[in-house]
Amino acid sequence: ITSIRTRIDEARSEAVARGIRKPRVVLVPTMGALHDGHLSLVREAQSLGDIVVVSIFVNPLQFGPSEDLSTYPRTLERDTAKLAEAGVHLVFAPTAAEMYPDGDVGTRVTAGEVGTILEGRTRPGHFDGVLTVVSKLFHIVSPDVAVFGEKDGQQLFLVKRMVRDLNFPLEVHGVSTVRADDGLALSSRNAFLSDSERQAALALSRALAAAASAGQQGVDAVLAAAHAVIDDEALVELDYFAVVDPATFSPVDEGYTGPVLALVAARVGATRLIDNRTIVVS
Ligand code: PAJ
Repeated sequence: ITSIRTRIDEARSEAVARGIRKPRVVLVPTMGALHDGHLSLVREAQSLGDIVVVSIFVNPLQFGPSEDLSTYPRTLERDTAKLAEAGVHLVFAPTAAEMYPDGDVGTRVTAGEVGTILEGRTRPGHFDGVLTVVSKLFHIVSPDVAVFGEKDGQQLFLVKRMVRDLNFPLEVHGVSTVRADDGLALSSRNAFLSDSERQAALALSRALAAAASAGQQGVDAVLAAAHAVIDDEALVELDYFAVVDPATFSPVDEGYTGPVLALVAARVGATRLIDNRTIVVS
């Protein structure tokens, strides 16, 4: 049968459907408890390829022994409904036994030096767990593109570097952080916050805004401005505030100028939150 198409997108999907062109597969790895940040990754994925695969797997390997693996929000039915509604083609939601039939894996991908600083200092082994499961997902799904959020800045950096270092035949695409109207970065862990904690949690994005405003006064002023905001919020216990060179993830010193990534991690009550923002230091 001869199809006549006047629209580019329709001609392209027809070509894919008839096997004239290989479909471009886009993977969005998640741990579920999906919010609008995840859905923004899905929309971006849909613009990048023909077939969108979303994985939902709360990966035990990336949780420390005293972390929130057992309490991490699991809302699989709601998640799959949202993804079906969004038009996702395939949801891969394996059990832990499916991913780790022996309970663990004897082989791990390690994140190296950058995996031991910032998030990696507080969460030893976390990024090795992330890179190991992401490698497995890449091999299982064989995507042409994988989409990750800038919200997890160090994770995005390490996944991009792994793909380059280990020659995974795919592109990694970063998506900007989705925030609530008041500035709080959306996170599955926000569900744990009480009303007063949620209010206090705004100190993270406020600290990043203060850091951005202090950019013209140099690195030390940026750090001081951010610390002042966090110190002012009794319910927030700072883990780190750091300013790094986005190309290497090395912390920069006073005197450095140019775009940098400012990253913050803090505990609000029992909940650990992270956020980051690109700022310009001059
Ligand atoms: P998870 O925390 O579920 O996040 C899945 C993806 O959504 C990540 O790429 C994350 O950066 C992105 N994301 C989360 N909140 C976002 C927001 N507010 N705006 C934009 N993107 C956001 O990150 C993981 O899962 C896991 O480590 C995983 C990569 C799936 C490996 O297990």
